Amino acid sequence: MVRDVVIFDTTLRDGEQAPGNTLTPEEKLQLARQLDTLGVDVIEAGFPAASEGDYRGVQGIAAEVRRPVLAALARCVERDVDLAGEALRPAARGRIHVFISTSDIHLTHKLKIGREDCLEMARAAVRRARHFTDDVEFSAEDSSRTDLDFLCRVVEAAVAEGATTVNLPDTVGYATPPEYAAMFRAVRERVPGADRVVLSCHCHDDLGLAVANSLAAIEAGVGQVECTVNGIGERAGNAALEEIVMASRVRPQVVDFRCNVDTREIYRTSRLLSHLTGVFPQPNKAVVGRNAFAHEAGIHQHGVMQNGLTYEIMRPETVGVPRSTLVLGKHSGRHALERRYHELGYELGEGALERVYHKFTALADKKRQILDEDLLALLHDGFPDTPEPFQLTYLQVTCGTVGASAEVRMAGPWAGERGAAGSGDGPIAATYAAVSEIVGQPIEVANLAVQSVTPGRDSLGQVSLQARVNGKSLSGHGASTDIVEACARALVNALNKAHFAERLESESLNSVYLWGV
Ligand code: KIV
Ligand code: ZN
Repeated sequence: MVRDVVIFDTTLRDGEQAPGNTLTPEEKLQLARQLDTLGVDVIEAGFPAASEGDYRGVQGIAAEVRRPVLAALARCVERDVDLAGEALRPAARGRIHVFISTSDIHLTHKLKIGREDCLEMARAAVRRARHFTDDVEFSAEDSSRTDLDFLCRVVEAAVAEGATTVNLPDTVGYATPPEYAAMFRAVRERVPGADRVVLSCHCHDDLGLAVANSLAAIEAGVGQVECTVNGIGERAGNAALEEIVMASRVRPQVVDFRCNVDTREIYRTSRLLSHLTGVFPQPNKAVVGRNAFAHEAGIHQHGVMQNGLTYEIMRPETVGVPRSTLVLGKHSGRHALERRYHELGYELGEGALERVYHKFTALADKKRQILDEDLLALLHDGFPDTPEPFQLTYLQVTCGTVGASAEVRMAGPWAGERGAAGSGDGPIAATYAAVSEIVGQPIEVANLAVQSVTPGRDSLGQVSLQARVNGKSLSGHGASTDIVEACARALVNALNKAHFAERLESESLNSVYLWGV
């Protein structure tokens, strides 16, 4: 009989922990709404004790996203468990996810505690979490490198204290599929009560085996798989949700589990994540990479034209890849734009439509054919649903082999317009020097990445960067047919986020009691 497997999405927690993937609470909420539409069963919304932003992110999602179970991570210490419980208070269905390392390597060198202390901390944390909710997950971090007898003792203790899900991660991506499956079989056979809880797998991709290990664990009987969209996560990433789900849809005879994911939402979710983080999957990434459905070789193209089954094991539309046809041009109106976004799955309110239409007409003046990818880039350029006091109103750069200079004018949270000139090694450095002069503070920029959105010389350039403004590290995104302008827009986007974050902080100073004041 086909089994149901719970899809536990940890994009907002383990995924977001990866460098370059930082999201603001508002961006997390946007992504959580899409994960809900995608149909995942559990969303791990964050690690509330890690930062105020994480706490607020979990709280915001808990208040709004009602269908999936919402999980919050906590170390096995009282403060973490309490913060997770507090942040989840508005949730329709909240889960506290407590974890502690169990391998000797971690106990000795990271936690500097013995096995008995570890056992006691695990027991106490599960017990405490049960005061907040009866949905408690326990994870034995680095399970795959843990002595099996000790692992069984820890699992037994967690189950006895009331854990309802027990997760045994391959934290450092060390296991092979047969080993990982054998660990689950042994735990189920040896631990009294293990048959009453949901066993869960959680794999990292250091050896490129995360999905293979997850499928082996499912075959060995686990009832939950933890994964992330685009496989983002610590180091080499986590098991990719889209690969696990599509393996079951394409090969149901051998990967025989059922889940609630609506595969037509996969591509949209992947793109939204990339647009928010500015990190795109490599072109040959399975299922969601730019080339995943491209057939370059003539012999393959010919085959696919005769019959898709020759070289396509899944149809692009099964995962929601839009047919990139010409959609709109300079003469298209608001109505056509709204309809096309609707077809792409986005419902724009009046304000958002007006803002995007403005950008669309400006782009249509520069670019003859506007494709779906352009529309997505325009939609994600800027900061949805929040005021944008900083605006780039003028940019002129001169550059060559002897350096560059820029003249910039901006609107901001001040009356009228301000302008400044800047110079630097190149046009981007000169532009940033001018912006820094205008806002009156130093700005550091790292991880600046430029990517062309569509083929062709008039393509939009999309820029993502990480900026450090007023001690905060924020991502910024901007798009334009001119890449220097796109760089300027990305920085302005980061400034707007910093401004918005500061305003939220001052508004919530009295309402958040937890930050040790
Ligand atoms: O990889 C890991 O072990 C984790 C745990 C916190 C579940 O992410
Ligand atoms: Zn992990």
